[in-house]
This record gives sequence, C-alpha cells and structure tokens, in this order.
Amino acid sequence: MQPAVVAHRGASAHAAEHTLAAYDLAIAQGADALECDVRLTRDGHLVCVHDRRVDRTTNAKGVVSTLSLAELSLLDYGGEIGVLTLDALLGLAADHGVPLFVETKHPVRYGGQVEARLVELLATRGLARPSTKEESPVVVMSFSTLAVRRVRALAPRLPTVLLLTQLWPTLRDGTLPPWADHTGPSVAMLRRDPEYVARAADHGHATYTWTVDDPADVELCAGIGVRWLATNAPAATRATLAR
Ligand code: G3P
Ligand code: CA
Repeated sequence: MQPAVVAHRGASAHAAEHTLAAYDLAIAQGADALECDVRLTRDGHLVCVHDRRVDRTTNAKGVVSTLSLAELSLLDYGGEIGVLTLDALLGLAADHGVPLFVETKHPVRYGGQVEARLVELLATRGLARPSTKEESPVVVMSFSTLAVRRVRALAPRLPTVLLLTQLWPTLRDGTLPPWADHTGPSVAMLRRDPEYVARAADHGHATYTWTVDDPADVELCAGIGVRWLATNAPAATRATLAR
C-alpha cells in the first residue's frame, strides 16, 4: 500500500502555513490527511501555530501564550487575517472527510492544559471516543512523552503517534511505550535506518514520517512501507508516488 499523503501545516510550500488557504489548497491537491500544530492562547483557546512566537508567520511580534484569541485574530498570517483555531480546522477537516493529525507543542510549559483542552474540544465535536482507532478522524502526536501519556490517560480511544528525532536505544527494536500506538520518526532517521519501519510493523506500529518533500525521500518511504508521510507539497508528492 502506498503511503497516505499528509499536508504538513497545509500545502505550506505554496500557501502561508496554518491558514485556511493552505488547508483548502492541500485538499484541492488531493491530500489524504492534514497536519497542524497547536498552542494555547492566553485565554485558553487552541490555535494552529508552530512557533512559540508569532514573529515569523505574522506582521507582529509576541509570544502566542501571552496573547488572547482576540489579539491573535487581528494579525496578518501571510495574507490571511486572523489566527486559525483548531476548532475551525476540525470543521474544515470534517467537511471534507479527511483525518487531522494534531501535534501538541510545549505541554510542560502549560502544565497539561493543552492536552486537557484538546480532549475537551474533541469531546464537544464527538471526536474523543472514536469507535475504532483506525477510523478516528483525529490522531494526536507529540515529541513530548508526557503529552502523549496525558492524551492516552484522558482519552484512551484516541490514536497517538510518538514523534522522534532520534531513536532511543530502547526503541531501536521497533517497540514503543504502551501509551503510543504509532511511531513518528523524522525522514532523516529513516534514511539512516530504513529497516526500522519493518521492525515497528512487526510490533504492530505503523510509521508516520516527516517532512518528506524530496522525491528521493518520497520513493524511500514508499519502498519501506511508511503508512503516512507529511509533506509541504501534497501535489508534487502525490505525483512522485504515481510515477
Ligand atoms: O509532523 C511532524 C512534524 O511537523 C514535526 O516537526 O517542527 O514541523 O512541527 P515540526
Ligand atoms: Ca508539526
């Protein structure tokens, strides 16, 4: 089976990341799923922003967690006014029937509030208790073991991905801690150790890898059985997969 194409921050190679325009474009380009990062505003809303600060992606300066949703809604995100809320993105994903991979950022700083708020929001949309993990419209991911464990404790039926920038010695055999369903190595890790995907599969874990824009990496992922690949350019990645 070919890997599913996950639009990383939307079709962020061709539209400003984490904007509605980027996600609309991703869907138009045939993405199978969407990816976003989430942070909490000062007043407790989950918004789709990668960096701790808004400086790189907006016309202003400041730390996301010190700004209110109203303040973030006034900024220009590369031509789109107003921050994208996770609630709005969940709505867009539902309208198009595409799964959403939600990555929580900096859970330690917020003392667990990001995951609690995320599960609460998913519950209001009836998404916190999917009938099966396979069919879940939302997958939660983090580099933070604490965050993934919290999500598992709060919503055991939600599928989780543990993102990895390096393979801990204890995970080299393809096992994962019991609270992680799937593994999320960087594509650089897979270049060094392509057999890892098969070892993880032997233990029942599918592989989500990021960020895969280079055609050689796309071909590598397809050849070793990666299940989901996150790309900034869904159309180009799909074209490579179709070759
Ligand atoms: O999809 C996972 C990937 O997004 C992790 O890295 O920095 O782009 O959030 P980053
Ligand atoms: Ca991310």
